[in-house]
Amino acid sequence: MLQATTAVLLALSVGASQALGHAGCGGHDIARRNLGGPIIAAAAVTDEASAASSVDPVEECMYYSYQPVLDVVKNFPTVWQTAAIVPGDDEATALFATINATVNAKYPNVGPKGTHNGDWTLSKNYDAKDPDCWWTHSQCTTPAADSGLKADIVSVPEPETWGLGFDDGPNCSHNALYDYLRDQGQKATMFYIGSNVIDWPLQALRGIDDGHQLCVHTWSHQYMTSMTNEEAFAELYYTRKSIQTVAGVTPMCWRPPYGDVDNRIRLIAESLNLTNIVWSDDTEDWQVGTGGVTQDDVSKNYQLVIDKAGKGTYATHGPVVLNHEINNMTMAEFLTQYDKIKAGFKYVVPIAAAYNWTTPYVETNVTFPDFMTYTNQSSGDSASGSASATDASGSPTAAASGGSASPSGTGSANSSTAAKSAAALGVEVKGAAVWGVAIMLIGRIALSMW
Ligand SMILES: *[C@@H]1O[C@H](CO)[C@@H](O)[C@H](O)[C@H]1NC(C)=O
Ligand SMILES: *[C@@H]1O[C@H](CO)[C@@H](O)[C@H](O)[C@H]1NC(C)=O
Ligand SMILES: *[C@@H]1O[C@H](CO)[C@@H](O)[C@H](O)[C@H]1NC(C)=O
Ligand SMILES: *[C@@H]1O[C@H](CO)[C@@H](O)[C@H](O)[C@H]1NC(C)=O
Ligand SMILES: *[C@@H]1O[C@H](CO)[C@@H](O)[C@H](O)[C@H]1NC(C)=O
Ligand SMILES: *[C@@H]1O[C@H](CO)[C@@H](O)[C@H](O)[C@H]1NC(C)=O
Ligand SMILES: *[C@@H]1O[C@H](CO)[C@@H](O)[C@H](O)[C@H]1NC(C)=O
Ligand SMILES: *[C@@H]1O[C@H](CO)[C@@H](O)[C@H](O)[C@H]1NC(C)=O
Ligand SMILES: [Zn+2]
Repeated sequence: MLQATTAVLLALSVGASQALGHAGCGGHDIARRNLGGPIIAAAAVTDEASAASSVDPVEECMYYSYQPVLDVVKNFPTVWQTAAIVPGDDEATALFATINATVNAKYPNVGPKGTHNGDWTLSKNYDAKDPDCWWTHSQCTTPAADSGLKADIVSVPEPETWGLGFDDGPNCSHNALYDYLRDQGQKATMFYIGSNVIDWPLQALRGIDDGHQLCVHTWSHQYMTSMTNEEAFAELYYTRKSIQTVAGVTPMCWRPPYGDVDNRIRLIAESLNLTNIVWSDDTEDWQVGTGGVTQDDVSKNYQLVIDKAGKGTYATHGPVVLNHEINNMTMAEFLTQYDKIKAGFKYVVPIAAAYNWTTPYVETNVTFPDFMTYTNQSSGDSASGSASATDASGSPTAAASGGSASPSGTGSANSSTAAKSAAALGVEVKGAAVWGVAIMLIGRIALSMW
């Protein structure tokens, strides 16, 4: 973290012309299914279960085609390229027109910074007082009060609690990690890249069906402050839409690649109802093999966070820790650290649970357990009435209370997916007719929280 900051400040002051591989994650040299190289098809992959069946990274990353995505891919930007509004997309065009007007009125003099791959030479004269609350400049996470913008989330409010998330998925080879999380009963917040969702839809489906919280991590994983208003909007909008199309839920959270955000980008994201979740501690797993970072360094970084717990650092809050499902090493490293994390911290929870975001999606009929429920400290019928149903043993069950909509299987792939995911998570899928009033109430609570 410190190392990264120093690198950034140095680069800004000397105007280094090289792209910086600083805080955040890789992404420029990762395997892109649709770009170059021979495509070897995975003959047996036809559905979520078959996509989840192998833990051999080579086999897992073989191409498959998935008709629901083939049917709609023309409505999305080209994968792994800077997003723009797709010609003819009237809905996106109309929404962007209002957002653009708002952004231009509020920030008439704030334009794109640097380049998409993080060359900040042209921003080297940026005001040292950091008027834009630019994370990459100063790690600013709290916009000035008069901006009207929400502060970024950097930690969790629960003591002795590790906020768990993985960036850069869905990775084609994530089955061993997801199997492990499933076997441990552990959910996490998954920050998905839109291009990966389109490339590996069945892996994204597994994310929701396993009960993880899904958030947006942009379309092409580049530096967001370098984008025009339209590009930044499209990066977020189409990632949100890809997750909705494939997994049936519309996320309300995002994380900027490399942490690169300023007030202009925050406003665009807030206009899409996306809460910005950054982090307090970086394992630097994404950096192994570059900048002299070794796997041993990553193990030490995990240990540093665990040691802080032993020193009372987390008596009143917990860290949000940055790690990745970007490759075999980062995932394997988490597996070796998990028991130590559990021993050092009282709880390991996804961000939604830490903040009691019981309706983390636009679809308010898909709910998430609140903190007490997730940590088995309550029976599940919390004051908000929206927590998971739990059975007598306290473990989440799919049994929604009376009037629950049953996954009849007659709906679209994604609505039955939402129901399935609800079952896997132990969340209730509520019949809107019966629970309408409760949902309205929850909606209002959720609004005040977001
Ligand atoms: C959005 O605003 C920018 C100015 O920041 C302007 O150049 C651009 O034309 C606008 N785009 C649309 C689609 O109105
Ligand atoms: C954001 O949330 C508000 C309140 O629920 C809603 O009216 C609005 O349409 C949402 N905006 C977008 C872009 O989803
Ligand atoms: C997914 O993980 C594999 C290693 O298991 C890695 O080679 C590949 O680059 C990753 N893909 C993406 C898109 O990050
Ligand atoms: C890493 O790759 C090996 C095979 O090369 C595989 O057996 C193992 O399950 C993978 N680990 C993870 C966590 O993905
Ligand atoms: C979450 O709910 C618990 C129990 O009801 C409460 O103690 C805690 O303050 C809530 N957290 C937030 C961030 O609202
Ligand atoms: C809650 O209880 C279930 C079932 O006993 C268990 O699998 C899970 O690990 C528990 N979660 C926590 C956070 O203790
Ligand atoms: C998801 O649902 C929407 C509306 O219900 C539908 O238009 C879309 O085709 C569905 N997507 C898939 C992948 O089935
Ligand atoms: C949730 O509500 C949406 C409408 O917002 C609907 O399309 C979907 O089928 C519902 N899902 C379930 C599982 O009831
Ligand atoms: Zn990333």
